[in-house]
Amino acid sequence: MAEWVNASVKQVTHWTDSLFSITLNAPITPFTAGQFAKLALEIDGERVQRAYSYVNAPSDENLEFYLVTVPEGKLSPRLHALQPGQPVIITKEAAGFFVLDEIPDCTTLWMLATGTAIGPYLSILQEGKGLARFEHIVLVHAARYAQDLSYLPLMQQLQQRYNGQLRIQTVVSREETAGSLTGRIPKLIESGELEAAVGLPMTAEHSHIMLCGNPQMVRDTQQLLKETRGMRKHLKRKPGHMTSEHYW
Ligand SMILES: Cc1cc2nc3c(=O)[nH]c(=O)nc-3n(C[C@H](O)[C@H](O)[C@H](O)COP(=O)(O)OP(=O)(O)OC[C@H]3O[C@@H](n4cnc5c(N)ncnc54)[C@H](O)[C@@H]3O)c2cc1C
Ligand SMILES: NC(=O)c1ccc[n+]([C@@H]2O[C@H](COP(=O)([O-])OP(=O)(O)OC[C@H]3O[C@@H](n4cnc5c(N)ncnc54)[C@H](OP(=O)(O)O)[C@@H]3O)[C@@H](O)[C@H]2O)c1
Repeated sequence: MAEWVNASVKQVTHWTDSLFSITLNAPITPFTAGQFAKLALEIDGERVQRAYSYVNAPSDENLEFYLVTVPEGKLSPRLHALQPGQPVIITKEAAGFFVLDEIPDCTTLWMLATGTAIGPYLSILQEGKGLARFEHIVLVHAARYAQDLSYLPLMQQLQQRYNGQLRIQTVVSREETAGSLTGRIPKLIESGELEAAVGLPMTAEHSHIMLCGNPQMVRDTQQLLKETRGMRKHLKRKPGHMTSEHYW
């Protein structure tokens, strides 16, 4: 049984009508960058709990989560309505294996995300530990519209901090906008546009691909990389090239 602790909402940032970030303070035990917690509220006498990835570095006491309001969703619209000072409950221990310790050595580590799934990568990159073994890191954030790229300023700051080791690329699917590729991640890999824009190849020999977010994006990209690049899922007992986390 998970142990729950009380958290207090410190801040809520509304990026768009549906995208928001919550900052909490709570006495959790230390987590590893890339992991998630469960947040819960009592709704009609029932505890409704869902998983949310930490965005902050583990060393930061402000616990940050990046969310989208799912229309008709049970919990996310309630979290969207929270105000500073209100209570939430959170699992004391984080969970999940979408962490750097699970990633084998490679020349180029690709971090691919749709929507709010940029979170775990931001945690990993803000913490900044265990990354020196990769010559290149590529952070790709795919969203519907340019205004949904809420963490672009942080991505740009990180790019500067990593001084050439980190490249960032945004992808927008429902409009054309300067500075972003247009379309969906798998199509942009298939056409070669993503690699051309980033300036690095995605090969089984030199790359590892982390995939997070929309489960159909994860499946479509894995299928494409399997068929066209000879990549396979990474397992402890059989090392491969792709590590993923599905958000639903
Ligand atoms: C490991 C893990 C980490 C997660 N981290 C985050 C996170 O950092 N931020 C975040 O916003 N969500 C995250 N999620 C999703 C989150 O746990 C909830 O599923 C989401 O907030 C919807 O809950 P709900 O009660 O509002 O919707 P529900 O009433 O549970 O309805 C769920 C339905 O909404 C859709 N859905 C669920 N999540 C999403 C989503 N993110 N985008 C689009 N459609 C969705 C699916 O069709 C799903 O069947 C994560 C999920 C997992 C498994
Ligand atoms: N984002 C918003 O502004 C917004 C506003 C209101 C409500 N919502 C709700 O929030 C939920 C999540 O929306 P979201 O925009 O965060 O997440 P999302 O629907 O997963 O979309 C994020 C990105 O992933 C892409 N994508 C979807 N399926 C894919 C696939 N199979 N392969 C590759 N890429 C794929 C989308 O492209 P496509 O655009 O081509 O699908 C989009 O660029 C939805 O329920 C939505 O109705 C979102």
